Amino acid sequence: MSKSLPALKSKNELTDTFSRTISYLRLSLTDRCNLRCIYCMPEDRDEGLKFLKHDDLLRYEELLRIVTLAVDMGMNKIRLTGGEPLVRRGVMDFISSLAELNGLEEIRLTTNGVLLEEKAAGLFAAGIRKLNISLDTMRPERFKTITGVDRFQQVWQGIETAEKMGFDIKLNVVAMKGFNDDEFADFARLALRKNYQVRFIEFMPVGKHSTWDKRYYISSTDLQKMLAKVGDMVPLPGCRMDGPAKVYAISGKDGTTGRVGFISPISHHFCDTCNRLRLTSSGMLRACLLHDREADLKAILRANGSDDDIRKIIKETILSKPKGHTLAEDMQSVDKAPCIGQMSRIGG
Ligand code: 5AD
Ligand code: SF4
Repeated sequence: MSKSLPALKSKNELTDTFSRTISYLRLSLTDRCNLRCIYCMPEDRDEGLKFLKHDDLLRYEELLRIVTLAVDMGMNKIRLTGGEPLVRRGVMDFISSLAELNGLEEIRLTTNGVLLEEKAAGLFAAGIRKLNISLDTMRPERFKTITGVDRFQQVWQGIETAEKMGFDIKLNVVAMKGFNDDEFADFARLALRKNYQVRFIEFMPVGKHSTWDKRYYISSTDLQKMLAKVGDMVPLPGCRMDGPAKVYAISGKDGTTGRVGFISPISHHFCDTCNRLRLTSSGMLRACLLHDREADLKAILRANGSDDDIRKIIKETILSKPKGHTLAEDMQSVDKAPCIGQMSRIGG
């Protein structure tokens, strides 16, 4: 009897005005990063980048308080992201504290992999089992061009170490015409060779420092056609916890199999099934990546807000969640990135 009550409560509290249940919280732990990806914080624009001061970040105790309340309301999945979450000091202890929260079913991490070799064992010990690793190229020279840093081997070693430890690995490849389109087939072959789900993400016009340009955009549909030469693809049934990717089983001509995914925020937006809120590294609660409306949770916390005050903001943010975004339409009228806050602060 007592077991059924929390589920009932959570459904009511977490349902938005479009009947979506918001059960997934993404935390951007820092806006800093040890890479300078061209679409996020290009090196030659460093001067325009202003990172948050340490005091402007939510402290770990503050984050833990918010997550505890959110989980109490019924949220059950957290993703740690950034910036690069592993560059923040004390992150491993924070993850261990999160892992102790009752009701939190899963903690996932998005990382660029630079520190993975050194941190993988600790992450595994803290209870993380699923990693999304950003990797847009497998060519060391190109890695340097895209990220500004010559670290491909280090990242690759980190990925292989994590694989050996038993992590479930997804590789995120931002699909950019003219930058890495000649590698899409190689990435699909990698999915055949390794037990990684390789996910291609449509390049989004996000971030005031972004180098996004219409000419670099390629839709998932076109991309999928380019992969036909690698193998047959059969869609896998949707998995509720698996997020917005449309995932396919791919079978190579030599009998090998693997999984490839397509994340299509522009051509096939997944707003109807969006179940997430974002907490930015500056402590703003945000209902949608692509709408700049934010609620200042940090201000509430630092003005000695009560638990009820925090719950109220979470509920209000859920109720403010827009039906969807209009990126596809916006793109018709602009050549350069039209939006928005900085991806590394909001959390990719
Ligand atoms: N378009 C698509 N994907 C992006 N990412 C960061 N910026 C963009 C963008 N403009 C990706 C990162 C990371 C994930 C969290 O989001 O590469 O893998
Ligand atoms: Fe760092 Fe990710 Fe931004 Fe690249 S995209 S600079 S890895 S936060």
